[in-house]
Amino acid sequence: MTVIIDGKARAAQLRADVAAGVSEFVAVRGRAPGLTVVLVGEDPASAVYVRSKGKATTEAGMVSGEHRLPATVSEAELLALVAALNADPAVDGILVQLPLPRHIDTDRVLATIDPAKDVDGFHPINAGRLATGLDALVPCTPSGCLMMIEEALGDITGKEALVIGRSNIVGKPMAALLLARSATVTIAHSRTRDLAAHVARAEILVAAVGVAHLVKGEWIRPGACVIDVGMNRVATGDGKSRLTGDVDYDGALGRAGWITPVPGGVGPMTIACLLANTLKAAKAR
Ligand code: GUN
Repeated sequence: MTVIIDGKARAAQLRADVAAGVSEFVAVRGRAPGLTVVLVGEDPASAVYVRSKGKATTEAGMVSGEHRLPATVSEAELLALVAALNADPAVDGILVQLPLPRHIDTDRVLATIDPAKDVDGFHPINAGRLATGLDALVPCTPSGCLMMIEEALGDITGKEALVIGRSNIVGKPMAALLLARSATVTIAHSRTRDLAAHVARAEILVAAVGVAHLVKGEWIRPGACVIDVGMNRVATGDGKSRLTGDVDYDGALGRAGWITPVPGGVGPMTIACLLANTLKAAKAR
């Protein structure tokens, strides 16, 4: 039997907790926490994310700010906006939606965000703090994954964990979080040999590569906790498309112990964790 992890329900619970924390914050500080999102260009998927982030922010009782810049904006103008948000006392969290246009140096933009307002956890200071075991603003997607893993498995000390993908946004911070919980962590990536053999050992599997159904159901270790971060848009043949994960979901059902669906698993948790990070950043300031 496979337990399907309801990310939507878990996220609703976390959002309610954050909203309660926001009410307390307002009572004590006399203002609501503020999250400002910066969107450069017209990427439709990014626009959808930004809209749902704005809605969730307001629903949690926080102040949602949004800056939309044209794809032709210069790097200097974007850096100047980030500097202004860093200096704005009403802004507790800054999120610059990625990807940025190619003429802009993403690393430079991320490193310009005040680490105390870096609710994405992408600043090298926060990445370094996470890697060294210090308190940090942690990237939202792996935070949400860890919550779901621990709720499924309890203590993960000594468990075999496999993270597929080595991005700064998911793979590396996910591995750091699992390591901090004393799991035995392997990171697989596009150059890994015999991925199936690694998957077969994993009691915890986090797939974050962006390749539809890369992980076959029969590779999965029976009883494993499978977290699918993939959000791949695939054509359905009737001129439409649907979202699907990095794991062959149907093949994994009945074999995995737990699995997150796509959509409705990791995605809702990511936004809830962003709200939690914004409250944390606001409290720390
Ligand atoms: N683009 C895709 N995922 C993310 C994310 O978590 N944060 C930001 N800033 N941009 C993204």
